[in-house]
Amino acid sequence: MLESVESDRGSRAPELLARELGSARVADPRERGLATELVYGVLRQERRLDHTLGPLVRQGLTKLEPMARVLLRLGAYQILMLDRIPAPIAVSATQDAARQIGAGRLTGLLNGVLRKVAALGEQLPSGADVASLGVRASLPDWVVRELVKAYGADAEAEGMALRERAPTTIRPTLGKGGADACAVALAAEGFTAAPGPHHTLVVTGPGDPFATKAFMDGLFVPQDPASLAVVELLGDVAGRRVADLCAGRGLKATALADRGAEVMALDLSGSKLDALNALARNLGLAERITTRVADLAARPPEVGAFDLVLVDAPCTGLGTLRRHPEIAWRRTSADLASLTALQARLISNAAQLVAPGGALVWAVCSFARAEGTPPLPLGFVEEERLDLRPSAGLDAFQARRLRRGPA
Ligand SMILES: C[S@@+](CC[C@H](N)C(=O)[O-])C[C@H]1O[C@@H](n2cnc3c(N)ncnc32)[C@H](O)[C@@H]1O
Repeated sequence: MLESVESDRGSRAPELLARELGSARVADPRERGLATELVYGVLRQERRLDHTLGPLVRQGLTKLEPMARVLLRLGAYQILMLDRIPAPIAVSATQDAARQIGAGRLTGLLNGVLRKVAALGEQLPSGADVASLGVRASLPDWVVRELVKAYGADAEAEGMALRERAPTTIRPTLGKGGADACAVALAAEGFTAAPGPHHTLVVTGPGDPFATKAFMDGLFVPQDPASLAVVELLGDVAGRRVADLCAGRGLKATALADRGAEVMALDLSGSKLDALNALARNLGLAERITTRVADLAARPPEVGAFDLVLVDAPCTGLGTLRRHPEIAWRRTSADLASLTALQARLISNAAQLVAPGGALVWAVCSFARAEGTPPLPLGFVEEERLDLRPSAGLDAFQARRLRRGPA
């Protein structure tokens, strides 16, 4: 899995893990847990690990074949950052792994370098400059610069919070009994569900809560509290028509419908809307949602005017690094510039669908300030702004509720 991400930066860790570890393939939940910890841990700490490994590899880390780099990181991660695997075991297990995947040629290199890692430990730079902070938080320089723009003196604390493991948070389906029914059903399958921020539940327990009957029955969906905070920014939606213009697979569209809204869900991607419809059916919300494929960047879709419009815009996703650590290395500052240009078109077209006196909620799962503050459409004022921070234990989201003046 790590080699796939190393060789193809388009690979996504959560999908790879789901495919490789699917409960049938690796039955023991402890094995699945350790494999998940290793994949996410190495991806999160990549720059920190490379900072330690670099000086110990004579020919240079970047000159090595991808598998060698990946195995060195895997060994170094266990030695430096996990406290239950003794260093000699980590070294020999990494060599065994190399042999098992037909990379026995690397055992000498792994032995030499990893023993030095164990002997020397980690030397972190202490400076306040971007590169030193980038090593400590294990983020690329351009992401650190965006953190500094967003959070100033708190940049390092927020960056470190983005490197934490996110808890498993879920949104109980209100139409199927809400939090109580959800907690009872999960408890029957051995899981504990405790109240989390923004009406989520935090789930702990044996194995995968998304392999339970309660999940199959539509009693809950996975959702970060920050994503629900955006839904709440629309206010009381019961009985109201809402247009969700970048609805995707429908986490927010179904949350709106579950709170009583009649939702018109649009997206560029027909396959994502298919997934949205399947989700809506499973949650018992299909009657409250209609879907339509539309390119919001081209022109305002012909769907009439709405009092409430949500644009959960395509963005860098930098706010979701806890669950998608590979994004830090997949995205570039050029992506940020092109997404910001796209976002300006999206908000301008979306504004034309807002009825006089109506509201437009703009949201991005990113802390990059340029993404959170697209140009204010003519005739709109900002009513409320959310700046959800990783240090609060949430994904970083920015959202603004804009109000259109009366006709
Ligand atoms: C952040 S995701 C939406 C997530 C979704 N709202 C949810 O809560 O599950 C952004 C979505 O914008 C869609 N998108 C990208 N470009 C678009 C465009 N030009 N017009 C409409 N949708 C677009 C993507 O397909 C993606 O589903």
